[in-house]
Amino acid sequence: MSDSNRVIIFDTTLRDGEQSPGATMTLEEKLQVAELLDEMGVDVIEAGFPVASPGDFEAVSEVAKLVKNAGVAGLARANQRDIEVAAQAVKNCEKPRIHTFISTSPVHMKYKLRKEPEQVIEMIAESVKLARSLVDDVEWSAEDATRTERDFLCRCVETAIKAGATTINIPDTVGYTVPEEFFEIITMLKERVPGAEKVIFSTHCHNDLGLAVANSLAGVKAGARQIECTINGIGERAGNAALEEVVMAMRVRNDVFPYTTGIRTEMLTRASKLVSAVTGFPVQYNKAIVGRNAFAHESGIHQDGVLKHTQTYEIMKPEDVGAGKSALVMGKHSGRHAFRTKLKELGYELSDNAFEDAFQRFKELADRKKHVYDEDIEALVDENIATAADARKVVTLTVIAGTMGPQTATLTVEEEGRHKTVQASGNGPVDATFNAIKQAFPHEAKLALYQVHAVTEGTDAQAEVSVRLEDREAGISATGRAADPDTLVASAKAYLAALNRLEARKRRVGAGRMQGGETLSEEARRSGP
Ligand code: KIV
Ligand code: ZN
Repeated sequence: MSDSNRVIIFDTTLRDGEQSPGATMTLEEKLQVAELLDEMGVDVIEAGFPVASPGDFEAVSEVAKLVKNAGVAGLARANQRDIEVAAQAVKNCEKPRIHTFISTSPVHMKYKLRKEPEQVIEMIAESVKLARSLVDDVEWSAEDATRTERDFLCRCVETAIKAGATTINIPDTVGYTVPEEFFEIITMLKERVPGAEKVIFSTHCHNDLGLAVANSLAGVKAGARQIECTINGIGERAGNAALEEVVMAMRVRNDVFPYTTGIRTEMLTRASKLVSAVTGFPVQYNKAIVGRNAFAHESGIHQDGVLKHTQTYEIMKPEDVGAGKSALVMGKHSGRHAFRTKLKELGYELSDNAFEDAFQRFKELADRKKHVYDEDIEALVDENIATAADARKVVTLTVIAGTMGPQTATLTVEEEGRHKTVQASGNGPVDATFNAIKQAFPHEAKLALYQVHAVTEGTDAQAEVSVRLEDREAGISATGRAADPDTLVASAKAYLAALNRLEARKRRVGAGRMQGGETLSEEARRSGP
């Protein structure tokens, strides 16, 4: 694979991504994202539009100081002030880049810029020349390039190259083009424009027709060697090409797209989660590569296939994108193979008749219930489970909270008819409550999830709390759920329910292991996806 097939990944999550309505990030959040992008191997980070606001300027200059490997770009319109401010913002970076742009399509020139084509040509020459006098690395973009008249686009690109641009970006600003057309545009520019061989062509595709990734890849096939993209595909309107998708398409279908990138793909899920957390934009469940269902299987036929050989229904390994392992989601479409595997994981070995009986009851339950949790399955097959889940109960709970800390919880619990009262403090009322439970029933399990939902609306809403505890040494976890108008009471009940279940499960799985049994987790770890 020669270097001519190396594709530069230009991430614009912090600039075009932040332009998504509602996706504003604080300086600290931008720095967190930039650090992760840098570590992940992004080549160029477009950190903002420095002239837009003092906050944007500060973000670009702080990112420029922070990054260790990536280049940092600042966006600028085709005017002196924008370009000088951008140069100032990126100056502390090892590899500073100015990215300057102007519209070239008839509709943009006439209604937005109110300029004649000849004036635009002049502005391209002047802006690129000025940028090039300030930094060596200058990217020029033809805004709305795909709706630009072809001969004029060639003239604009030629002007930018002559003035010193090192990268020529061809944005599909309104997400209008299609792969065949975009392929032709890049091919035409490379063939017709004098000096095209000296620069890198770049794609910047928006997703209004859902074609941003396909168009970017078509651009690369035609000879572009930079893709502009964002994590989770966020960006103006329907967003930009998603970084994780273009990178994985080139990796998984390297036979069709024989190109490389410098991206450490096992960091993609982390990057997706961070960007979702800081922007508050959820990732759709079925999002390619990073959605929570991307490696989850519910249908019986698929689960059976994946259990026999993961490649039956998976074209990449979840760990290649940092997604942990494939999940078999138990639901009404699940089949016997997955149900038997789940029972084994939960520590049950049933006779054929008992298994059939449990499977029928599972199907009936799954028809009525959206989510079938492990504890629902336990309850189906184990008469003792309800008693086990209730083995230790919350009797009373009083918590002192507020600004005057330390927050303290006084808890009375019941076990086998006997009451015990303990007191503990903590870093906040929830921590104090959980510490009190630990004091009453010492254990090593770690809190893996704590989630609160309001079941009804208003300040008197019923709070539903989920707690998952993990015994890492035993490789076992259990979830407890409880609802109460008092969030802390619900939290204490949920925690105790999880602890009761975890210990019951540990006893059961431990007994299975002693008889030579093993859990799915062990099997899965050994065979791998
Ligand atoms: O979509 C677009 O045209 C842009 C340019 C500023 C590159 O974001
Ligand atoms: Zn854009």
